[in-house]
Amino acid sequence: MKVAFVARYGPPEVLEFREMPAPTPGAGEVRLRVLATAVTAADWRIRSGVLPRGFGVLRGLALGFGGPRKGVLGTDAAGLIDAVGPGVTRFVVGDPVLAFPGIAMGGHAEFLVIREDGCIAPKPANLSFEEAAALPFGGMTALDFLRRGEVKAGERVLVNGASGNVGSAAVQLAKHLGAHVTAVCGATNASLVRSLGADEVIDYATRDFAARGAPFDVVMDCVGNAPYSRVKDVLAPRGRLLAVVADLPAMLGAAFAGRTRSHRVIAGPASEKGEDLMAVAELAEQGALRPMIDRRFAFEEIVDAYRLVDSGRKKGSVVLSLDCRAGLRG
Ligand SMILES: NC(=O)c1ccc[n+]([C@@H]2O[C@H](COP(=O)([O-])OP(=O)(O)OC[C@H]3O[C@@H](n4cnc5c(N)ncnc54)[C@H](OP(=O)(O)O)[C@@H]3O)[C@@H](O)[C@H]2O)c1
Repeated sequence: MKVAFVARYGPPEVLEFREMPAPTPGAGEVRLRVLATAVTAADWRIRSGVLPRGFGVLRGLALGFGGPRKGVLGTDAAGLIDAVGPGVTRFVVGDPVLAFPGIAMGGHAEFLVIREDGCIAPKPANLSFEEAAALPFGGMTALDFLRRGEVKAGERVLVNGASGNVGSAAVQLAKHLGAHVTAVCGATNASLVRSLGADEVIDYATRDFAARGAPFDVVMDCVGNAPYSRVKDVLAPRGRLLAVVADLPAMLGAAFAGRTRSHRVIAGPASEKGEDLMAVAELAEQGALRPMIDRRFAFEEIVDAYRLVDSGRKKGSVVLSLDCRAGLRG
């Protein structure tokens, strides 16, 4: 099978295509013929080795020295089940699914093996394979942080970085929960985030959301420029900062930050649970969560896809389509 391989940390051009044997599913595992995958911020971080401040020293141990230990990246995938291992009961060959291998990676390949009780769910009937591949990373991260932040109907939620993959899902899910949503994005993305349900929009180039205005019950930072020290004065009593991006000092200090003002800071990796992927897929099926695709590329154009992700300017997801006929070769 064809895979996109990263042998060393670096710019998008480090990507190379390799041929590898297609994996065989073991007991309790299924194999997907990948029809669409995404290039996510996690793929960018692992390919480039660019981690939030403080994590650099841990990079070698956590991800690999010189280059990622897992050379085939790809956190998200959608496709058809094409083989099942012994004992599999949940899926049969031919089922359309979406999967979130997440930090285990492997989506940038023609085939992906995953446990049937892992992060895999039936593809929502109203989504194409490309839309399904655009769903897990942003949807699961947003769902997990909003849940940990105990967002309730009627609360005022601000999403910083609302036009990105996580932010665009967060705006929709916070609205679905009944919150009043303020989206922070660039002026060119204002109508886009309004179409996702944002009640108010702040252009970060002309207004500092942390400088003044009515307090927020929840601030969700999907950019990494809104630490607690910046947002504490716009958090209401019992307010929560959802630090989707946090450097190491902020992550270590999260449990203590804001205690004197009865604020909470929630940071750390988002959970990777199969039940969350099921929930995200169901929300998409109901129409409550619409995956947003900035641009589609062919698998062979993965370097160009990474260039767009590296720009930090993408809207929602960047998706790669895999040629079905190539996939059938095995
Ligand atoms: N904790 C976790 O487990 C976890 C999970 C997932 C993601 N993350 C992290 O979360 C971050 C966001 O991920 P993502 O996939 O959503 O990224 P993304 O899609 O690449 O975000 C790009 C978006 O950010 C916007 N943006 C850039 N600078 C901004 C600013 N100063 N203010 C407001 N918006 C700004 C851009 O809009 P403009 O073009 O208008 O600037 C663009 O639409 C990444 O750093 C990722 O590593 C963490």
